[in-house]
Amino acid sequence: MGISTARVAETSNRGKRRKIVAREFDSPEIRGWLSGEFERALVEPPEHQHQIQVGDVPVTIRTIRPADRDIGIDFVRRLSPAAKYLRYHHAIEELETDTLDRFLSPDYPDEMALIAIVPDNTLPGGIRQIGVARYARGTNPEDAEIAIAVADDWQGRGVGRQMLLDLREFALGVGIRHLVAKVLPQNAQMMKLARKLGFQHETADPDEGTVALGKGLPKE
Ligand SMILES: CC(C)(COP(=O)(O)OP(=O)(O)OC[C@H]1O[C@@H](n2cnc3c(N)ncnc32)[C@H](O)[C@@H]1OP(=O)(O)O)[C@@H](O)C(=O)NCCC(=O)NCCS
Repeated sequence: MGISTARVAETSNRGKRRKIVAREFDSPEIRGWLSGEFERALVEPPEHQHQIQVGDVPVTIRTIRPADRDIGIDFVRRLSPAAKYLRYHHAIEELETDTLDRFLSPDYPDEMALIAIVPDNTLPGGIRQIGVARYARGTNPEDAEIAIAVADDWQGRGVGRQMLLDLREFALGVGIRHLVAKVLPQNAQMMKLARKLGFQHETADPDEGTVALGKGLPKE
């Protein structure tokens, strides 16, 4: 299940442990300052905003925020069962609340997530989420697993490719040197996209039923 469950829980616990460390100090000033810093580090990954034009629609790729809950729920609800299966590797209707919470607040720099949004006046906030891409660092700090999903009606229009290129820059910036995507063998779209971005077949995991496609990132 990779990035969708266990790894994310593990990195999010790392964030909670940092807050617990802050509570160990005697001085309330130091405690307050430290937990403020940790809080910022946890909930505020760097702001990223990149607009691309897809046909006549401006698509904005930006850092995910906790306030993106409603558009995130709408995004997952609209994904076809096939797309959900390819992304999460099992059948889901919606994300569990705690999984959604973790996904909305990446534990940067060990995790980072970008979403793609478009204007949509039929929705309450006037925007619709059409994609999400994230990485989560592995036990080896130079390795990270990536995962991505694009709304069915937006697939094949270059959004996934651009999101992965933007995400790659964040990974490079925090010292990640190897990205891996765990892909179901039947996922021809992701295989093709990953290969076009220079990912190569590495291993197959018979237990998870996935194939790992990896890519080394340039050293500074
Ligand atoms: C895989 C996925 C993220 C790709 O995103 P996307 O926005 O559709 O991809 P792009 O439009 O950027 O396409 C980039 C390349 O992928 C390939 N591709 C995309 N859609 C394709 C399709 N329908 N059929 C075949 N190849 C396709 C093409 O090689 C394309 O390059 P090209 O435009 O030069 O032909 C998207 O299809 C998706 O969300 N699928 C369901 C969830 C999933 O599989 N996630 C991956 C789990 S790690």
